[in-house]
Amino acid sequence: MQFSTILFSTLAVVASAAPTSRASFRETTDASDALEKVSDYFNLLANKVQFARIMDQAPACDVSRAQMPIAPEALPAPAAGHRVHHVAVGRGTQNYTCDTSNSTAVPAAQGAVAVLFNASCIAALYPDLLQAIPGMAVHFTVDEAQQLGPAGLQVSGHHYFIDNTTPAFDLSGPDHDFGMYIGKKANGTDAPTTAAVGLGGEKAVPWLRLGSIEGTTQNMQEVYRVNTAGGSAPATCAGQPESFQIEYATVYWFFEGADEE
Ligand SMILES: *[C@@H]1O[C@H](CO)[C@@H](O)[C@H](O)[C@H]1NC(C)=O
Ligand SMILES: *[C@@H]1O[C@H](CO)[C@@H](O)[C@H](O)[C@H]1NC(C)=O
Ligand SMILES: *[C@@H]1O[C@H](CO)[C@@H](O)[C@H](O)[C@H]1NC(C)=O
Ligand SMILES: *[C@@H]1O[C@H](CO)[C@@H](O)[C@H](O)[C@H]1NC(C)=O
Repeated sequence: MQFSTILFSTLAVVASAAPTSRASFRETTDASDALEKVSDYFNLLANKVQFARIMDQAPACDVSRAQMPIAPEALPAPAAGHRVHHVAVGRGTQNYTCDTSNSTAVPAAQGAVAVLFNASCIAALYPDLLQAIPGMAVHFTVDEAQQLGPAGLQVSGHHYFIDNTTPAFDLSGPDHDFGMYIGKKANGTDAPTTAAVGLGGEKAVPWLRLGSIEGTTQNMQEVYRVNTAGGSAPATCAGQPESFQIEYATVYWFFEGADEE
C-alpha cells in the first residue's frame, strides 16, 4: 500500500472527521475522566502523525505481525501456529435484564450488539494507539454514516448473539468478506483496574477468550476480547428497568488456524 494511503486511511481521516463528530460526543457522569481518555487518544495520534511526516518509507501493514497485548497469566495464549486473521474495534451495548419484582436480584446478561470496525492495520502499525481507542470510542456513538466518532475506521462487520450464550461475528460487508465467527466462551479475566469506565462510570467488562463452534468460516479458531471500556451491569437491580443496555467498546482479535483443524 502507498504511504499516503496508509497515512490517510489510518491517521489523516481521523483528524478531518473530528469536527463533525463533536455532535456525537455522549454525556457522561465523569467528564474529566472522559476528557482524559479522549485526549490520551489524540495525543498518541498527534505523535503518530508527526512521526509519519518525518518518515520517507511506508510502514508495511502486515496483519500477521500484530501482537495482542495480553499477559500470559491473564488469559491462555492463542494455540501455537494460530495467526492473526482480523482485528476489530467493537462499539455497541451489553444487554441485561432485571427481575423487577425482586429487590435483591442481580442483572442477568442478555448478549450484546456492536458494530465492528477494521483495525487490522492499526494493530500492526500503531499498537499503542489501538489500545487507546476503546476508552475514546465509548464516548462516541456510531452515527448514520457508520463513523465511530473521530476514528476514521471502515466497518468490518456486526456482532450479535444467536442465543444467550452464543456470540456471532459477521465480518462481511458490501466489499469484503473476512468470514463468520460463531463462538463459545472459554476463558475470562477481569479487565485491569486501569481500564476505561463507561458513560455512567460502569466498570470495563472482562477480557475473554472464545473458542469457535460450527458455523465459523475461514478457519477461524479463537477470538479474544481485550482492552475493554465500560459495559458492566450495576451490582444490583435496584432502580433498574426490566431490560437495559450499557454502552461499551473493545478490541476483538480473530485468530485462524495454520492448517485445516
Ligand atoms: C481490514 O482487515 C483486513 C483483514 O484483517 C486486512 O487485511 C486489512 O489490511 C484491513 N484494513 C485496514 C485499513 O485495517
Ligand atoms: C432474588 O434475587 C436473589 C439474588 O439473585 C436470589 O438469591 C433470590 O433467590 C431471588 N428471590 C426470588 C424470590 O426470586
Ligand atoms: C440489545 O439491545 C439492542 C438495543 O436495544 C437491541 O437492538 C438488540 O436486539 C439487543 N440484543 C439482544 C441480544 O438482546
Ligand atoms: C480455558 O478454557 C478452556 C476451554 O474451556 C479450558 O479447557 C482451559 O482449562 C481454560 N484455561 C484456563 C487457564 O482457565
